[in-house]
Amino acid sequence: MKICIILGTRPEIIKMAPIIRECQRKNLNFFILHTNQHYSENLDKIFFKELELLKSRYNLNVGSGTHAEETGKMLFGIEKVLFKERPNLVLVEGDTNSVLAGALAATKLHIKVGHVEAGLRSYFREMPEEINRILTDHCSDLLFAPTEKAKEILIGEGVSEEKIFVTGNTIVDAVYQNLELVKRKSKILGKLNLQNGKYFLVTAHRPENVDKKEILRRILRGLGLIYKKFHLPIIYPIHPRTKKMIKKFKLRFPKGLKVIQPIGYLDFLELEVNTKLILTDSGGIQEEACILRVPCVTLRDNTERPETLEIGSNILAGANSKKILESVSKMLKKKRNWRNPFGDGKSGERIVNIILSKIKHV
Ligand code: UD1
Ligand code: UDP
Repeated sequence: MKICIILGTRPEIIKMAPIIRECQRKNLNFFILHTNQHYSENLDKIFFKELELLKSRYNLNVGSGTHAEETGKMLFGIEKVLFKERPNLVLVEGDTNSVLAGALAATKLHIKVGHVEAGLRSYFREMPEEINRILTDHCSDLLFAPTEKAKEILIGEGVSEEKIFVTGNTIVDAVYQNLELVKRKSKILGKLNLQNGKYFLVTAHRPENVDKKEILRRILRGLGLIYKKFHLPIIYPIHPRTKKMIKKFKLRFPKGLKVIQPIGYLDFLELEVNTKLILTDSGGIQEEACILRVPCVTLRDNTERPETLEIGSNILAGANSKKILESVSKMLKKKRNWRNPFGDGKSGERIVNIILSKIKHV
């Protein structure tokens, strides 16, 4: 059996890493196809280096563009590789354009598709990822749902139960596998002159937040209010999309916000573990905050991670400045004793075992 693992962006590299490691451990016949949707050193190569990942066999060098440009170029490139390699299974993770392109190219060639992190829904159709998730789920043959809730959503949409496997989320594997390394290797607190529990951490990169001037301004204003109230630094590893938009809109960063370049996984985990609270619109970071028992304020009106709201690790604040401040105060009063709903850190192994039992050996 031959497996093709397709990935293209930062979160896919991080969440696919535990599966790649498991394929290596089991000595399987597999290869990595990188679309290079992300290509900057600190969104791409740094993770291959830090996580000591196997190099990709194919690089499509697709880069940035409109949705059609990115997805179209990927479809062409992926199809060529699939014709040549003829894998038995294509594995994709998450909800980016690389995921949709991988699933679509494979299914048209009658190659089986496995979707890791299936069944997530924000029910917000303007979010490009929501379209990617729905389409990918509905052309997949093996759907690896992280939670029972995700499985229920898929069944509700008519996906046959035989195709769905509740495996947990590989982000738990990634966090557990790297925490030890973080303790030994990360020096980020010293570098940024930070003390444990005495700073906030923020990330924001979703188009609905950063591509509209007024919305982005409200988020920055909210961060300014937090500094006014708590007088603690707010660390912001800024995504290139956001950096570009702030420049375009000529917006100014509020006092107290310390903007840095995106950082590697070990340093980012170290910042997450030691922060007072995380503010984010990232999917993966909502999960990591929950796993690490760090309170999270989500800068969105919806989330495809409702489990975090139910257990109380996370709250939705949207892009409303006052609500952002209120949500921070509310979350800081909470006890950090929730249980992690995303699995036991063995999702990668579970997923690979299911693949081995379901895909015919040839
Ligand atoms: C993409 C995903 C999003 C995911 C995010 C992870 C889609 C539709 N979006 O969003 O789901 O949460 O990745 O971070 O697939 N850029 C660089 N260097 C890079 C990559 C991008 O500078 O290596 C800049 C370019 O100006 C580009 C912009 O960032 O135009 C956006 O990149 P793109 O990959 O289109 O979307 P993301 O916002 O990164
Ligand atoms: N991350 C990182 N460095 C950073 C910011 C984020 O390593 O400077 C990691 C973070 O720990 C998480 C992942 O990137 O695992 C989240 O990626 P992103 O927010 O880009 O995408 P999303 O999860 O929203 O799809």
